[in-house]
Amino acid sequence: MELQNQPPYELRSARFLAAEVHARVLRPGDTVVDATLGNGHDACRLAELVGPTGRLIGLDIQPEAVSRSRERLAEAGLIDRCELHALSHDRMAEVVPEPVRLIVFNLGWLPGGDKRVTTHWETTERAVRAALTLLQPGGVLTVCAYPGHAAGDEERNALPGLFAALRPQDFNVLHQRFLNAGPGAPECFVAQRQG
Ligand SMILES: C[S@@+](CC[C@H](N)C(=O)[O-])C[C@H]1O[C@@H](n2cnc3c(N)ncnc32)[C@H](O)[C@@H]1O
Repeated sequence: MELQNQPPYELRSARFLAAEVHARVLRPGDTVVDATLGNGHDACRLAELVGPTGRLIGLDIQPEAVSRSRERLAEAGLIDRCELHALSHDRMAEVVPEPVRLIVFNLGWLPGGDKRVTTHWETTERAVRAALTLLQPGGVLTVCAYPGHAAGDEERNALPGLFAALRPQDFNVLHQRFLNAGPGAPECFVAQRQG
């Protein structure tokens, strides 16, 4: 592993923990799915990691989020490797044709948007289950969950049960949380499909 020229390690957020995983998992030429495009920040980072020969498939239920992401990716010169859909992530199998290396969920609402349009467990559960079937052997799923509001609490409370029920022959799953940051602190789940 190349250790030179890396930014300093700062243990500060669930998104940081997920981003560390993404940087380790993705290789040039991979396909990655961003299941919650939002403002496109994660999508830009992921599209950089797969390089010009890779592909990012992005989804968001809000057309506004898809256009914001499209603009951000275009400004960064990354849009040619991206395919964006205004589609609920529980329907991702319709636009992900083959197993992929990484699928990323950053739950919650669109920052700066309508907080009523947030992810909900009913859909999130279907989407996470669909994502698990779309991973290559060795492929990884990350989910950042944000308790502290009703829908986020429900997701955070239900995700451990879904993941804990997976057979260890099929998936290894890690649940990361900050022990001293209070009950509403974001949490990160990482699942890897076994070979
Ligand atoms: C926290 S934001 C994502 C932030 C984003 N990854 C970024 O880097 O800016 C969560 C996003 O999930 C989207 N969302 C909510 N329900 C969804 C669903 N059923 N399918 C796809 N996206 C959904 C929201 O519209 C919102 O944009």
